[in-house]
Amino acid sequence: MDIEFVRSRFIKHFDGTTGSVYASPGRINLIGEHTDYNGGFVFPGAVDKGMIAEIKPNGKDKVCAYSIDLKDYVEFGLNEEDAPKASWARYIFGVCREMIKRGVEVKGFNTAFAGDVPLGAGMSSSAALESTYAFALNDLFGDNKVDKFELAKVGQATEHNYCGVKCGIMDQFASVFGKAGSLIRLDCRSLEYQYFPFNPEGYRLVLLDSVVKHELASSAYNKRRQSCENVVAAIKKTHPEVEFLRDCSMEMLNAVKAEVSEEDYKRAEYVIEEIQRVLDVCDALEKGDYETVGQKMYETHHGMSKLYEVSCEELDFLNDVAFDCGVTGSRVMGGGFGGCTINLVKNELYETFITTAKERYKEKFGRSPKVYDVVISDGSRKLC
Ligand code: GLA
Repeated sequence: MDIEFVRSRFIKHFDGTTGSVYASPGRINLIGEHTDYNGGFVFPGAVDKGMIAEIKPNGKDKVCAYSIDLKDYVEFGLNEEDAPKASWARYIFGVCREMIKRGVEVKGFNTAFAGDVPLGAGMSSSAALESTYAFALNDLFGDNKVDKFELAKVGQATEHNYCGVKCGIMDQFASVFGKAGSLIRLDCRSLEYQYFPFNPEGYRLVLLDSVVKHELASSAYNKRRQSCENVVAAIKKTHPEVEFLRDCSMEMLNAVKAEVSEEDYKRAEYVIEEIQRVLDVCDALEKGDYETVGQKMYETHHGMSKLYEVSCEELDFLNDVAFDCGVTGSRVMGGGFGGCTINLVKNELYETFITTAKERYKEKFGRSPKVYDVVISDGSRKLC
């Protein structure tokens, strides 16, 4: 996907003039899943797939937005009661509202956008869209006075307040802060972060997209978050200082075992273990110990499948194929309920793994998984 493509559609769709062009990427996450809203650690990086939008103020009090991929056009005003119905337009509307709440005087604009982050693949196409508009509106109407963290929070608040998903900060953070060649470890409690150059010699990261999407993913996601909050509330009774599952140990969890549901217990067990796994992976990476990194990825998959229960038959199958092929690490990536596995594969195994996964998946489910090689790239930016 390139700038010229978006520009040609913008010119065609509007008055023949051009505006400014902005882009933001989707993300991968090496490890640390469902830990962000628990105040834990995540380890994402931006990818070379994302969203591009051309935008030009139109001197009116409404936004005229064209989705190039969906060939859908929507107009909406900038007041709270003007929320559009189309779900893609609600992301743009939400970002406008959240920027206005932060003191940016957003005015009407014309915009066309397109993307190449696969939808529903767990690579955060929605965060890419939010970050693109947050970055753009800050530049066009806000003199860039909103800082980068706040731009990420604008995207997250858009999900919470206009799209019904109580997500954490990881996706929007990775999209805004991405840096070519580096993964970023973020402490979601303190918001401290550190770039880790990631170039594992002899290995590749590859995503296998199950091409499965689950309709109820957002309500199931919110339910997981609720379980975590239930457990925190139970632990807080004896440990008032506790704010997140990040602050809890397995001992603290076990002490409230009888008070919480079996389901909530399993969810919390997964989160407490997963937060520790991110730290273990960072240590292993510093030593160049990719075997341990890979082993932790399999442990995450197991936890996401059996304790957090956000995997599905297709993703478990792809994980088993990876294991059978001797792939170093593999797990479901992102929120789950469909989407991709992320795989850490030795170079010499790569071809066999991809061929075997494609064949066996097709035999079992009647279609092929999609394959995306991971290229770790830059975050939100203005292209021209
Ligand atoms: C989704 C959410 C993120 C994060 C992941 C799971 O991508 O948007 O905030 O919780 O799921 O790690």
